[in-house]
Amino acid sequence: MTKFFHSIPDLRGHLRRHPRPLALIPTMGALHAGHERLIEAARREAATVVVSVFVNPTQFNQREDFERYPRALDDDVAVCRRLGVDAVFAPPDAEMYPGPRFTAVEVSRITDHLCGAFRPGHFSGVATVVAKLFNIVRPDRAYFGEKDAQQLAVIRRMVRDLDVPVQIVGVPTVREADGLALSSRNRLLSPAERRTALALPRALREAEALIRGGMLDPDEVKRAAGRHLEGLAGARLEYLEVVDPVELQPVGRIEGPVLVAAALWVGGTRLIDNVLALPDPS
Ligand code: PAF
Repeated sequence: MTKFFHSIPDLRGHLRRHPRPLALIPTMGALHAGHERLIEAARREAATVVVSVFVNPTQFNQREDFERYPRALDDDVAVCRRLGVDAVFAPPDAEMYPGPRFTAVEVSRITDHLCGAFRPGHFSGVATVVAKLFNIVRPDRAYFGEKDAQQLAVIRRMVRDLDVPVQIVGVPTVREADGLALSSRNRLLSPAERRTALALPRALREAEALIRGGMLDPDEVKRAAGRHLEGLAGARLEYLEVVDPVELQPVGRIEGPVLVAAALWVGGTRLIDNVLALPDPS
């Protein structure tokens, strides 16, 4: 049976009686099929599954973005019940941040490019809240979507650098039939904006095909793929980059697997997506 918690001591008390391995899926709610894949993977691999639902104010650059972020706690709890989650942890802001904060987790280098270059403080907010959630829940395994590739790389590095005893599991991006990566923010798109947003997976698919086909100059790849993202009514490309998949640094030439990642504003909604691309060795 799924139990619901707002307070850290109540959750900790409850989890003490639960068998291990314990899995955590940290979320900001508005759960979609992508989150469901994370929960299902955790359910298969762990004895106890905890989902946290917390729209973390410290990772938003703009108050307006935080306020607009979709919230659907009743639906989220229903999803968790259906998928056999043991505990949902949905703390109020004051439970997570009871007073002024003097401590933050900063992961450098990996945050220099992509979203990190455009969202100052974002990954510090993410790393800090994830570290807090790890300390609160003490999971053996934690599940994150590969759609947020930079977030996943930051968390992997934080865990490694700080010797956090948790295994990080990345789960492949779930897409709609037309290619759009699932995201809680998709709910904010009008039907016309949703059609515009399809340019993002189209550009990334093109980049992937070009790299596989032997285009090894990242600038050439960006130019060719970027054509899909130019001149879109009501949309603005924030970045399209080709980086190494571990430290997320731009590459001078494509010689192995690379991450092609992009962020596109469609109206007031910022969408991100990525593909892992590999030149065909033959
Ligand atoms: O990916 C998210 O939903 C959030 O960034 C996370 C990992 C739950 C931290 O607030």
